[in-house]
Amino acid sequence: VVHTTEELRRVLNQPVLGDESLAQRAVVMTMGALHAGHMELVNQARSQARQVVVTIFVNPLQFGPGEDYDSYPRTLEADVELLSEHGVDIVFAPTLEDMYPGGDPLVRATAGKLGTVLEGEFRPTHFDGVVTVVNKLLNLIDPDLAFFGEKDAQQLLIIQRMVKDFGHRVEICPVPIVRQADGLALSSRNAYLTTEEREIALTLSRALFAARHAAEVGADALEARAAALKVFADQPGIEVDYCVVVDPDTIADAGDRFTGEALVLVAARVGRTRLIDNMRIVIGSA
Ligand code: PAJ
Repeated sequence: VVHTTEELRRVLNQPVLGDESLAQRAVVMTMGALHAGHMELVNQARSQARQVVVTIFVNPLQFGPGEDYDSYPRTLEADVELLSEHGVDIVFAPTLEDMYPGGDPLVRATAGKLGTVLEGEFRPTHFDGVVTVVNKLLNLIDPDLAFFGEKDAQQLLIIQRMVKDFGHRVEICPVPIVRQADGLALSSRNAYLTTEEREIALTLSRALFAARHAAEVGADALEARAAALKVFADQPGIEVDYCVVVDPDTIADAGDRFTGEALVLVAARVGRTRLIDNMRIVIGSA
């Protein structure tokens, strides 16, 4: 476990042994409070690289005013234990001062237009904060592979775009969403939910499965969206921020003439907890 960029540079400079047919170094970036979704990224990284670096940093730049930066779960000791059981080589858990010496950085990355829609509409500074920290961690770690979850579909798309636009050499490796048996997507924020709220939170995945089912029996994108919205409308105790069917390459709205693989994206609030989820569906195959 290393806590400073200086220590990180030192350990990364040591020779990496192991199977030469694998990539040299993979990174999994996280904000900690690790769960089976994070560990799926770790396992994939472990199977594809000789050295696995996991970063744990609750990045203040990606939280807006009034969001949950202060209450975000911090479980470093348990996280490190879990990562060591999963064969991770290096955990980089920098302090705030080490990541942002002297306070907030003046020079930042911006997600541009992709960062202003959907999540960006509700969290206007969020994706600029994400790309600023991801850009910095890619520079510090210089990995061959970086694993990101499809759970955060818009984040994944923006990071893929940043890698192209900034010329990072890393290969971005997407990992499918890990769900609990009843459909709830794993999230560190699920820890905020009461038993009752957790039941209501299932509405997100139920809405997505409804959209998928509708598409399977012939719905176009608008009808698939309506099927998902109906599930939300029938459930008290949940407020939808957005529920859309988009083109996965551009996250632009899919119209009634869209065919092929589309992405259904939802964000909703249960009590004080804001949750997101998404699912791929195929339009026009029925
Ligand atoms: P965090 O929310 O901790 O997520 C870290 C990584 O785990 C992300 O790539 C996320 O998509 C993935 N992940 C979370 N839940 C998942 C699930 N149920 N199934 C599959 N993957 C899942 O995303 C962030 O942190 C931050 O924005 C970060 C990229 C670290 C920058 O601060």
